[in-house]
Amino acid sequence: MARAQIAYVCQSCGSAHPKWSGRCDDCGAWNSLVEEQSAPPSGASARRTTKGRTVALETLAWVSAPPDRRMTGIAEFDRVTGGGLVAGSALLLGGDPGVGKSTLILQALAAYSRKTPSVVYVSGEEALDQVRLRAARMGLAQAPVQLGSATSVEDILATLAAGRVPDILAIDSIQTLWTSALDAAPGTIAQVRTATHDLVRYAKASGSAVILVGHVTKDGQIAGPKAVEHLVDAVLYFEGERGHHFRILRAVKNRFGATDEIGVFEMTGAGLQEVRNPSALFLGDRSGLSPGTAVFAGIEGTRPLLSEIQALVAPSSYGSPRRAVVGWDAGRLAMILAVLDARAGLGISGRDIYLNVAGGLKIAEPAADLAAAAALISSHTGRALPKECVVFGEIALSGDVRPAAQADARLKEAAKLGFARALVPAGTKSEELALERIGDVGALVRLLAAT
Ligand code: TYD
Ligand code: MG
Repeated sequence: MARAQIAYVCQSCGSAHPKWSGRCDDCGAWNSLVEEQSAPPSGASARRTTKGRTVALETLAWVSAPPDRRMTGIAEFDRVTGGGLVAGSALLLGGDPGVGKSTLILQALAAYSRKTPSVVYVSGEEALDQVRLRAARMGLAQAPVQLGSATSVEDILATLAAGRVPDILAIDSIQTLWTSALDAAPGTIAQVRTATHDLVRYAKASGSAVILVGHVTKDGQIAGPKAVEHLVDAVLYFEGERGHHFRILRAVKNRFGATDEIGVFEMTGAGLQEVRNPSALFLGDRSGLSPGTAVFAGIEGTRPLLSEIQALVAPSSYGSPRRAVVGWDAGRLAMILAVLDARAGLGISGRDIYLNVAGGLKIAEPAADLAAAAALISSHTGRALPKECVVFGEIALSGDVRPAAQADARLKEAAKLGFARALVPAGTKSEELALERIGDVGALVRLLAAT
């Protein structure tokens, strides 16, 4: 028998080192190395004693029905999962501590249990009374959720084996779990991976849909959800800016559905409330139009979503001008500024520039280029955009405005919310809105100067 070896594993990037040191050589994280027992050296696996057995190879076509889905009844949650949790799969819900993961899971379980009373919620973090208190505050105390408090994987599996297989099992959180098979402390990469592995295996073997909650960690003291993303079938992240009430549930991996869907919630005194019409929420009150704001007609997943992009262009008092971006990509901003200078002669690059997406939303679509450019030009020139106007279109390095996908859906949403005009790429058609087709950034600058 080969002796297990000691390795020092970085809790932030997972790389193993033979010696302890204060800083991980691979990712540069400080104080993140933890002693763990590594697997026996690879030479041992070369001396295998058992022969592999043959595996049956099959066709791609369905031989049985498509996967059994479990809809919780919380529409925003079900959409992001791709139409409900899949039986026999494991889903990881990641997010910053305090963002509302436990609240979301409890609400989803309670909603499901009202239809089918077959859900188990295991909390390793909070005492049962804390969970009950929260449930009472959210008006869920009567929901038939089976509640357990445990941190040992063996205990959890034994408990599950003793009863009926639940339709949905939630574990809050993976970082509190530990197995006696390992010497490492709870929260280390080895423990978190082993526990996740055991629970994923339980899901596959039993047909239960398992939800694992994982805290995103910044200091590397405990392993984050990244360490187990590859082990599970779906990964959702719950995001929210501090100081904002909005929370966005985003799929980053899904073996059973698309990953570009988002779900929008609002944190209230009585738990999370679904936001059915997020555009109205992110736009807020738009009675007064000020220079430097533009409404972007975006698409998140399959849904159109309008949001407000705000820009402030101010004289710079430093040698190198300041740039601050919230909710958008800083590299993308630099590109738009360079294009505005080079192709439209705007002379904006030497100024301090602040760009903000209202409501704590993060935009990743290139179609937001034209809206960001319009906000920047508007702030630079001090002229507001036309009233009741949405903007979308991608800007190329040449200064040309490129078409964006799903123009129809964007314009329909804008019309629904009372917008009358749109600045769009050439070639866009609409019956509902008056369109200004923009060929390049020069045309945009001239148009905004004329309003
Ligand atoms: P929680 O679900 O415990 O977060 P996580 O599990 O991600 O750590 O939610 C924590 C925050 O949510 C807490 O700071 C209080 C707030 N909250 C409300 O505002 N309203 C509520 O009804 C609940 C349950 C929580
Ligand atoms: Mg929690």
